Amino acid sequence: MKELFEKNVAWAKSMKEADPTFFERLCEQQAPEFLWIGCSDSRVPANEIVGLMPGELFVHRNVANMVVHSDLNCLSVMQYAVEYLKVKHVIVCGHYGCGGVKAAVEKQNLGLIDHWLLNVQDVQYIHQAYLSEGCNKNKVIDEVCELNVIEQVVNVCKTNIIRDAWARGQELTVHGWIYSIADGLLRDLEVNISCRDEVRSIYHTAAEKIKKRYAESV
Ligand code: CO
Repeated sequence: MKELFEKNVAWAKSMKEADPTFFERLCEQQAPEFLWIGCSDSRVPANEIVGLMPGELFVHRNVANMVVHSDLNCLSVMQYAVEYLKVKHVIVCGHYGCGGVKAAVEKQNLGLIDHWLLNVQDVQYIHQAYLSEGCNKNKVIDEVCELNVIEQVVNVCKTNIIRDAWARGQELTVHGWIYSIADGLLRDLEVNISCRDEVRSIYHTAAEKIKKRYAESV
């Protein structure tokens, strides 16, 4: 624990050296343009991946980057980000080899978290027919990781928070990305949705693309 405090002092010092008024300005306000909904996985640190500074990214993370409509925590983050911070982009970011997705696909028994991961199993169930039998298990997990992202993007778009924002003409785009721990790179899953009418068609096109890509790679 002592080491963490030492690292903190060193970090604050280096930030101040690089930009003497950095912390003073941050105290005034936060004006992030982006809301990040990502996985809690320690290998997927939101700010670092996209090179954003404190104050530039509003973040919500949970196991397997889920947007569950009964989750007050996630919904509150979204509402505040959209209605008060007026973020212009909501990014749902998954990652390959997600432990939560893996546990769901393998139907592991981990305790309380199994209930949370039933939401991932629902995603797998929706697309089950397209996960070919006997194919590489890690590929199935990665495919579900991608499909899970686009399902969560749709879940974001379905909320009154986003619908109302679009209805009042607020500029807001929802995105679905996936991160590779193996090379540190992001992939755009091409679910960039800026209005209610686009949700269905963009979702279907993206889902087909993902399934086609995995079907070809097996
Ligand atoms: Co994960």
